[in-house]
Amino acid sequence: MTIHIGAKAGEIAETVLLPGDPYRAKWAAETFLDNPVLINEVRGMLGFTGMWRGNRVTIHGSGMGMPSLSIYANELIRDYGAKTLIRIGSCGGMQDSVEVRDVILAMTASTLGTPSRGIFRELNFAPCADWSLLHAAARAAETKGVRTHVGGIYSSDVFYDERPDLNEQMVRHGVLGVEMEAAELYILAARHKCRALAVLTVSDHLLTGAALPSAERETSFGDMVEIALHAAFP
Ligand code: ADE
Repeated sequence: MTIHIGAKAGEIAETVLLPGDPYRAKWAAETFLDNPVLINEVRGMLGFTGMWRGNRVTIHGSGMGMPSLSIYANELIRDYGAKTLIRIGSCGGMQDSVEVRDVILAMTASTLGTPSRGIFRELNFAPCADWSLLHAAARAAETKGVRTHVGGIYSSDVFYDERPDLNEQMVRHGVLGVEMEAAELYILAARHKCRALAVLTVSDHLLTGAALPSAERETSFGDMVEIALHAAFP
């Protein structure tokens, strides 16, 4: 047990999928895993361990934002031995070429700052995805026929009232989408010699104002879970 995770030693797999929403973790575990077992419910942050095609997998909520993700990822890595961590979540599109429902595989994640800022101080560390996961995810997405983009994203600290001038610069520099967790996940993976990737569905669009209808959210989320599982076990 850790401060935020009630699982016993050995109850968490080396491969962990991290949706922000704990109820998405429950849905994904019940939909895609064989024999999913609830291994955490401290503070309502649900985690399940089960099997996918003979491979042990944990699906655990991360909460929203980098400070929350940092707590869970740190404990999963340091205390439970997680080695492969894949965020599955939504993002806002930031390019005309990106449409709602598309999948973005985050090669890099820019930020204004992360919970690791105190460690890096003046260094602008460049958080990046694990190549083997990124490559396998791109192939899985192609096989599934899902419209997919691979490139840089922006991990923001705010959902509301993002600075318009900053968004303009992101768009100008080809950033594909905005979400709130990937950069810190990539930094923690680098620090602890783990593999990490963020697989994101475009749920809304900052340029067009389009949004994914709620009826379609489940299907899109399912595609992401499958891409993440194939990336972890190609
Ligand atoms: N996640 C999904 N859409 C988002 C947005 N517009 N900003 C930040 N995170 C998001």
